[in-house]
Amino acid sequence: MIARPFAELSSIGVAVPPGVLTNHDLAGMLDTSDDWIVERTGIRERRIATAEQSVAMLSRDACQRALEGAGITATDVDSIVLATATPDRLLPPTACDLQALLGAHRAAAFDISAACPGFVFALTVAEGLIASGQSGTVLVVGAEKLSTITDFEDRSTAILFGDGAGAVVVRRSSSQGRGILSTYIKSDGRLAPLLYRPGGGSADPISEKVVCERSHFMKMSGREVFKAAVLAMAEACDEAIRRAGVAAEEIDLLIPHQANLRIIEATAKHAGLPMSKVMVNLDRYGNTSSASIPLALEQAISEGRVGEGSLLLLVAFGAGFTWGSSVIRW
Ligand code: ACO
Repeated sequence: MIARPFAELSSIGVAVPPGVLTNHDLAGMLDTSDDWIVERTGIRERRIATAEQSVAMLSRDACQRALEGAGITATDVDSIVLATATPDRLLPPTACDLQALLGAHRAAAFDISAACPGFVFALTVAEGLIASGQSGTVLVVGAEKLSTITDFEDRSTAILFGDGAGAVVVRRSSSQGRGILSTYIKSDGRLAPLLYRPGGGSADPISEKVVCERSHFMKMSGREVFKAAVLAMAEACDEAIRRAGVAAEEIDLLIPHQANLRIIEATAKHAGLPMSKVMVNLDRYGNTSSASIPLALEQAISEGRVGEGSLLLLVAFGAGFTWGSSVIRW
């Protein structure tokens, strides 16, 4: 039996672009309405970055806040693990651009591509880096500029996504019992065509055809993704709780991926948690993929819903399909 916790989350920082796109704005662009979007998703507005605000820049702002919170500087960082579905460039990793912006010269920096649960996957990798002795201090980042891969002519996806970044400093666990008590990650590549970007990668490089067919934007079979998300999030909750050796009733706060309020409600119901024990902020940010859990966690901390010793359950689902979860003693 492995002796956890190896790693703890020492601090958190977030950054969102100031530009707000409301449901009413979308209703002026597409055949949709505020009522429909709120009723089907719970989303009211989302943040949209400008052309100048890169994923690396949003990540830098989030990381600087996290470093400040931990009382350390960028040169104390051993590794940067950045989860994103929207890298600034396909080469080099966005984590390396972030490393340069931060001046984290001692670090190894790399990206993780695991869609919406990317933050949970990155946290799992960070824990492994710490447990193996490879790193003592890891910056785990979830950052997205989903507005660049969203088709604003497609009402079935344009209403869902937003931009933002969140980062945590993960360090060797300093006190008995505090830190990451369990992680669980899973995927099923057979379901990839239900949520994907067909064009613009090496299989179908960017070309006039790709742009004309709009295949560089996300395509989603919403209803199928919804059903799979509910099942996978439920399984992931069970598995993280089981692996942590805790009871569901002990969870103080569920911090789910913020994709759809109805998916979150179904997940909470499965876990036997009342909505008063669930963090929801998708009304303000929409689905920010790998940034969504750190954005929700930071807000929960600011609102005083997470304190020392709080038992947290993180759970997420996304393209791939990929899903994952973690139980953390704050
Ligand atoms: N406004 C108005 N009507 C709409 C809109 C819209 N924005 N979008 C779709 N509709 C219509 C459809 O055309 C359909 O009309 P029809 O009945 O005449 O055919 C009707 O509304 C119902 O459409 P559904 O797709 O069945 O609606 P549903 O209730 O499933 O909601 C939604 C759609 C919100 C996309 C939902 O399926 C969903 O949230 N799916 C999961 C998405 C998700 O969680 N993704 C997570 C991963 S994201 C990642 O990894 C990057």
